[in-house]
Amino acid sequence: MAKKYLVTSALPYINNIPHLGNFIPLLRSDIYTRILKLQGENVLYICATDESGTRTEIEAEKKQMNEEQYCKIMHKKIKDILDWFNIEVDYFGRTSSESNHELTKEIFLDLHKQGYICEKEIALLYCPNCKRYLPDSYVEGTCPFCKQPGAKGDQCDSCSKFINPEELIDPKCKLCGEKPLIKKDRHLFLDLPKFSAKLQKYIEENKNFRGIEKNLPLAWIKDGLEPRCISRNLKWGVKIPLDGYEDKVFYVWFDAPIGYIAATKDYCDKNNLNYKDYWQNKDTDIIHFMGKDNVPFHTIIWPAELMSNKKWNLPSRIYSNEFLNYEKGKFSKSNNHGVFCDDVLKLKYNSDTWRFYLSSVLPEGKDSDFEWHEFMEKINNELIANYANFAYRIISIAKRFGQITALDETGLTKEEKEIAEKIKENIDNYFSQNIKGNLKESLRNALNIGSLGNQYFQKNKPWELIKDESKKTEANHVLWFSFCILLNTSVLLHPFIPTKTKESIKQIDLEFNPNNALKSKIPLMIKKNIVLTEAKPLFAKIQDDDIKELKKRF
Ligand code: 2FM
Ligand code: ZN
Repeated sequence: MAKKYLVTSALPYINNIPHLGNFIPLLRSDIYTRILKLQGENVLYICATDESGTRTEIEAEKKQMNEEQYCKIMHKKIKDILDWFNIEVDYFGRTSSESNHELTKEIFLDLHKQGYICEKEIALLYCPNCKRYLPDSYVEGTCPFCKQPGAKGDQCDSCSKFINPEELIDPKCKLCGEKPLIKKDRHLFLDLPKFSAKLQKYIEENKNFRGIEKNLPLAWIKDGLEPRCISRNLKWGVKIPLDGYEDKVFYVWFDAPIGYIAATKDYCDKNNLNYKDYWQNKDTDIIHFMGKDNVPFHTIIWPAELMSNKKWNLPSRIYSNEFLNYEKGKFSKSNNHGVFCDDVLKLKYNSDTWRFYLSSVLPEGKDSDFEWHEFMEKINNELIANYANFAYRIISIAKRFGQITALDETGLTKEEKEIAEKIKENIDNYFSQNIKGNLKESLRNALNIGSLGNQYFQKNKPWELIKDESKKTEANHVLWFSFCILLNTSVLLHPFIPTKTKESIKQIDLEFNPNNALKSKIPLMIKKNIVLTEAKPLFAKIQDDDIKELKKRF
C-alpha cells in the first residue's frame, strides 16, 4: 500500500474558546498538511473536541444545561472558529462520540487482559463545601517536587512532573478556596513501569524524535515511571467496563488521545474508507502537533496505551511548540489579557492576515510573543511589501499589454537561470523544513522567492521597457518571468495564506489545484498566455492608530 500521513492537532478542550496560543497547534497541523498536499501526498488531518472531565460538568451546570447540550453548543462554536481561520481539518470529531467510547473500552480491556492495569486504594481530595471530588485542574497547591506554588492536581507547570493529587502540598479547592478533605477509594492505574523498556526502545529508535520530545520521556524513564491513575469519580465521560467501577469514568487524558483514532474512524465510516488503513497499516505515518505541556502525555501515556496490542501504529513524529505569550505576559481571559479566537472574528482583519502573522512568530524551538506592533510590521513590511505589492505592481504594468505571451524556459537569460536555480533550492528547503516541523523556516523560503522576484522586477524595470515600442518583446519577457516567480511564491505561500494566494492566482487567470501543485517539475513555469483582468490589492495596510487602539482594548 502507498505511503499515507495522518496529521493530528492536540484536541482543544470543549470548555474554552482557544486563545491565540492554544491555536498554534491547530494552525501548524493545517499548514503542515497543506504543504504535504502540495507535494501530492495522501494525508488526512484529524482533530476533535476533548469533552470528558469535571470542567464540562461544572460549566454545563453553570449554564443550566446537561453536558450533552453544553458540549454540542461549544463544539459548534469551536468548529466555527476553525472554519473562519480556514483550518482545513478533514474531520473534527468529539471525544463524547460513540466510536470514542467503544475504542476506549476496547483499548482498556486489552490493557487489562494483558496485566497492564493495577488497582489501588488511594486518597482523593473531596471538597466538603462544593460536595464533589476535586479533579486535577480544580485543586491548586505547591508542587511536591520543585516546591513552586500554582501546581495543579495532575501536573506542575513549572517542572512538568506528573503529580498525584494527594501529593500536593497545602491544597485548595479552586472553586471555593476551601481546604479539601481526603477520602479513600479504589482506583485503576496504568502500570507504566511495565512499559519502561518498550517505551525507551521506541523513543531511542525513532530517528524523528529530537529535543524535548526525546529528552523529556527518556529522562522520566530513567528516573523511574510510576503507575498512573486512569479512573475518576465523575458521571460525564467514558464509563469503565469493569465490575465495581460503575460509578466512575476514565480520566480525561486516557480517552482523549483515543479520540484521534475515533475521529479517524468516524471520518472513514462516512467516506467508505477503513480507519485501520491509517491506524494499523505500517505504511502510515502518524504525526501529532501540540503545545509543549502535552509532551509527557503523548510520549509516555499515549504510546503505552497503544502498546496494549501490537496492531496499533505508534506516533512517527511528535512536534510540540513552546509558548506564545501576549505582549510579554500570559494570555488570560479573566485578566482581559490577550486576544482570544472569538475576539479575532470580530476585528476587521481577514483570516490570512492573522495566519500570516502567527506563522511568522510560531514558537518553534523557543517561546515567542504576540505583539501588536510587530503584527503591523510583519503585515505591512513583509506580507504586503514582499508579496502583495509585488503582485499588484506586475499586474498593473502588464495590464497595459492586456495579455502576456507565455515563453519557453529555453529562452531564459543567465540571470533568470540563476534565479530559477535559487527558487528550486528554496522549494527543496521548504519541503525538508516542513517535514521536520520547522514551519517558520518554510515560510522564510517562500518569502525568499518573493524577494528574488522583487529584485528581478526592480532591476529589469518593465515599466520603462513598455514605453519603448522597440522593447515590447523584452518587456513581455520580463513580465512573463516575473509572473512565473509570483506564481511560485503564491503556491508556496498558499498553505499559510490560502484565500489570498488563490485570489492572486485567479487574477492572472491560471488554474490552481493545491492537491499536487508542486508534484511536477519545479520551479513552475507559466505555459499559457496570461490574460489580465483587474489589478486589485490583496491586503490593506494596517494603520498605526488602529494598532494603538487594539493594544489598549486587549
Ligand atoms: O491540553 C489540551 O488542550 C488537551 N485537551 C489536549 C488533548 S490532546 C489529546 F491527546 F487528546
Ligand atoms: Zn470547593
